[in-house]
Amino acid sequence: MAIADYIPVLLRPALLLTTAVYHCIMTLLQNPTLIFNLSTLQEKSFARLWSQNGEAMSVEMPGPTFALLKTVSGTVLDVGPGSGEQLPRFDPSIVTIMYGAEPSINLHAGLLKNAEKAGFGGKYKALHCGGEPESLIPALAKAGALAESKGQGIFDVVVCVRVLCGVPRPEETIEGLYKLLKPGGRMIVCEHVINPWQESGSVLARVMQVVYTVLGWPFFMGNCHVDRDTKKYLQEAAGKDGWASVKLEYVEPKTAIPFVVGELVKRS
Ligand SMILES: C[S@@+](CC[C@H](N)C(=O)[O-])C[C@H]1O[C@@H](n2cnc3c(N)ncnc32)[C@H](O)[C@@H]1O
Repeated sequence: MAIADYIPVLLRPALLLTTAVYHCIMTLLQNPTLIFNLSTLQEKSFARLWSQNGEAMSVEMPGPTFALLKTVSGTVLDVGPGSGEQLPRFDPSIVTIMYGAEPSINLHAGLLKNAEKAGFGGKYKALHCGGEPESLIPALAKAGALAESKGQGIFDVVVCVRVLCGVPRPEETIEGLYKLLKPGGRMIVCEHVINPWQESGSVLARVMQVVYTVLGWPFFMGNCHVDRDTKKYLQEAAGKDGWASVKLEYVEPKTAIPFVVGELVKRS
């Protein structure tokens, strides 16, 4: 890669961060008292950013993401679906039921509208919860999804697209999601991660991740972290027995927002 090629890929996140700061300011101008409630300000300004830009940010997705989403079938958990920008990528005819665990209530109207538009009809259930066990399990219980589990897991597929960067305690949350998979179930992921600068990545891109973090990326981007070692957490979630198979690939590993895309299959 030539030096000139690095500039757009390293600076692209700066454009996104600037847009996020703009939405935060606009949210604050509309409701100045939110300055005293920073977590609500963070949630509302991210919901504003995502409602207005999520669709444009989903036209292209890294690597084989679209092909993987087309294979999703059976009983499905979509963690952090936002306002459902990925829903047109699924094939609803092979999905039995899909639960969307979305903690931002401000995104639910768009989510349900997009589920209807994508042809899910009554097969889509939006849950007002996060993917972390203490939030997800009670919401699944309330929706009646745990009734058939018998301790064996309930989902054929768990989908994590651009969400594990923002969940609390990622290792524990991913382990919790692993437990919810049926034997032979698949976890499909498209997640941005810490730059793999010691392998195929770039030191400069890793430095830029630190710069964006210092500039407030986690606050303005709805608690998103650019430096999580999610690939490692995913691999370790299956414990000492390991996954039956792991197929994860880096996409754009030399950038400040490198992705890991692929699937992990639980042992039968
Ligand atoms: C960057 S958006 C991605 C939306 C969608 N998955 C996509 O890629 O089009 C991240 C989403 O994760 C949600 N989110 C934030 N914290 C979460 C948590 N703890 N559990 C589940 N989702 C969460 C946000 O509300 C937001 O909708």
